[in-house]
Amino acid sequence: MKGYPQPSLREILKERFLLGAALNDAQIAGQDPAALEIIRRHFNTISPENLLKWDVVHPEPDRFEFAAADQYVALGAKYGLFVVGHVLVWHQQTPSWVFEGAPGATLDPKLLLSRLRVHVRTVAARYRGRVQAWDVVNEAFEDDGSWRKTPWYVALGEDYVARAFEFAHEADPEAHLYYNDYNLWKTPKREAAVRLVTSLRERGIRIDGIGEQGHWLLDDPPLEDIEAAIVDLANAARQVMITELDVDPLPRPEELIGADLSKRVELAPQLDPYADGLPEALQQRLAQRYRDIFSLFVKHRAVSRVTFWGVTDADTWLNNWPVPGRTNHPLLWDRQGRPKPAFNAVVEALRRAQ
Ligand code: XIL
Repeated sequence: MKGYPQPSLREILKERFLLGAALNDAQIAGQDPAALEIIRRHFNTISPENLLKWDVVHPEPDRFEFAAADQYVALGAKYGLFVVGHVLVWHQQTPSWVFEGAPGATLDPKLLLSRLRVHVRTVAARYRGRVQAWDVVNEAFEDDGSWRKTPWYVALGEDYVARAFEFAHEADPEAHLYYNDYNLWKTPKREAAVRLVTSLRERGIRIDGIGEQGHWLLDDPPLEDIEAAIVDLANAARQVMITELDVDPLPRPEELIGADLSKRVELAPQLDPYADGLPEALQQRLAQRYRDIFSLFVKHRAVSRVTFWGVTDADTWLNNWPVPGRTNHPLLWDRQGRPKPAFNAVVEALRRAQ
């Protein structure tokens, strides 16, 4: 299949689940009309790749920068899309001042809690009724299910998560609120997320669902593990979402499976084997992987949204992580915006489910 007309993924899906993509700054600023065309034709939900993160939106204690985020939210409204906010509380892409004490003092947990309150309330309240759902907390657990020892956790203990959800709910009582993480197919980590949802709900705190990021490889995680995670997370949280989907066909050391941004590997030629294009055999493996995972998504009713982390291979973050400067090929559209065999595979999987 070359160029248009492509069948619209969103139309094939009907209302089965929401389908979307993360937009980068240029796309939101209107500088990439071809990507916006893909969004309008195929998707009904968007996420912002970076511009609602703390370092962008709240770079200094008394300074919020909402211009780019306003454009993002306006774009969603203009096209009638379900607008996701990513992300209120994380340990990455958060300015260092957030975790610093007053001059000459160590960090007072009360001060950190008040910063959390101001940030979450200000951001969520600004977009009340216009951002339909928030990733409230991202990546609170290690793969072994223990609490990640982030500055949030070290200063405030487990409670920072509950507080963040409460502040978000106060700021926008209608918004859907999610916990988001990667590698939830790993049982201990998934169990930790399930315990979190259960405990928040027992305490009467609103949480609507769990997002599995879905930064996957051609063979890892195994399909059975992906399915087991969907089933468990659905039982615990009702809504399960795949929030940052991509399938990385490049070589990757095993300990880098997932999306731990603190880990990086230096560029070396053998780590960048497909700079001139993905060979046909790998295109077909990628397509088969997408066929398999979308067959799972349509099989499980609890899957309420699937969002790709990017639109075309030209803009995937995997060109720069875990190895900066590679030529990666993880999405449905190639660098020129042409649909790949993986696109057709998704069409097939969705059609088969009708
Ligand atoms: C990534 C962005 O795509 C990059 O542009 C940025 O440099 C780093 O962050 N998990 C998440 C996302 O929750 O916010 C990350 O996004 C990818 C991993």
